[in-house]
Amino acid sequence: MTNPVIRPRRLRTSPALRRLASEIRVHPAELVLPMFVREGDEQRPISSMPGVVQHSIDSARRAVVQAAEAGVGGVMLFGVPEVRDAIGTGATDPKGILNLATRALVDEIGDALVVQTDLCLDEFTDHGHCGVLAADGHVDNDATLERYRDMALAQAAAGSALLGLSGMMDGQVAAVRGTLDLNGFEDTAVLAYSAKYASAFYGPFREAVASTLVGDRRTYQLDPANRREGVREAQLDIDEGADIVMVKPSGSYLDVLAEVAAMSNIPVWAYQVSGEYAMIEAAAAQGWIDRRRAVEESVLSIRRAGADAVLTYWAVELATWLKEERA
Ligand code: PBG
Repeated sequence: MTNPVIRPRRLRTSPALRRLASEIRVHPAELVLPMFVREGDEQRPISSMPGVVQHSIDSARRAVVQAAEAGVGGVMLFGVPEVRDAIGTGATDPKGILNLATRALVDEIGDALVVQTDLCLDEFTDHGHCGVLAADGHVDNDATLERYRDMALAQAAAGSALLGLSGMMDGQVAAVRGTLDLNGFEDTAVLAYSAKYASAFYGPFREAVASTLVGDRRTYQLDPANRREGVREAQLDIDEGADIVMVKPSGSYLDVLAEVAAMSNIPVWAYQVSGEYAMIEAAAAQGWIDRRRAVEESVLSIRRAGADAVLTYWAVELATWLKEERA
């Protein structure tokens, strides 16, 4: 028996050495908080996402200030309208809840963080799909692009700095980019949800935006089996002029994330979605896992896989912990 010559454990012997040998760390500035804003004066809890609420515009104002104080890099806004219709009229109405909330939060927070908006129709349609339907009921790609162009103009006019295109229509980045540029919004940036999978992990989001879906999203969102196709979608969005590409969900798609991070020459973000949040919260509430460690590890892993920034419902809490640890 010979003793080992190579001893990787050496670098793990003390907290100070471990800290110095750590390959990556999470910083508050690369966290983005998704926020839901409803019409009306009261905020409402979301039972499947304990700790997350549907904000009123007023409570959203307070929350965005708190997020900026915690050092969070941005917020991603979702609208929860009272009335929905077949084409999602509320999405393009300057007085629609998402556009009103965007203006209110931009005015409130200025440059202290980046106010971003979800550009998709599902929160605003009565059938819950991300686009408009053709006569036979299928989601009409090119008719939807026309709605996205109008939505982009409404959101840019409301002050959104970064439009999150999450609808998975073909050509959506080029369509929105072209319309923005023609209308004087050259500096409004586009975040492409490039590799967005048809995932069960969006479950709690339906309650969060109070929307019911007729059917499923498999004709436009990606098949969870397909890694290569996710990378291809990212490449297409880069070619169409996206400023940032994203992979979503994150925890179950770290392989796709790593591959997109390896090929991309623009920033790559990941979205830790509602179901990922709910799973950890539920297990922690039962006392089955250590909540704080699980939250920190889950976001660290997304960064390790290659995400430059992470959308997470824990953004503010995590940023606060990170500050404490530094102090
Ligand atoms: C579409 C959109 C969804 C999410 C973000 N943008 C829902 C979907 O595609 O079904 C899900 C986010 C989450 O689950 O946290 N507007």
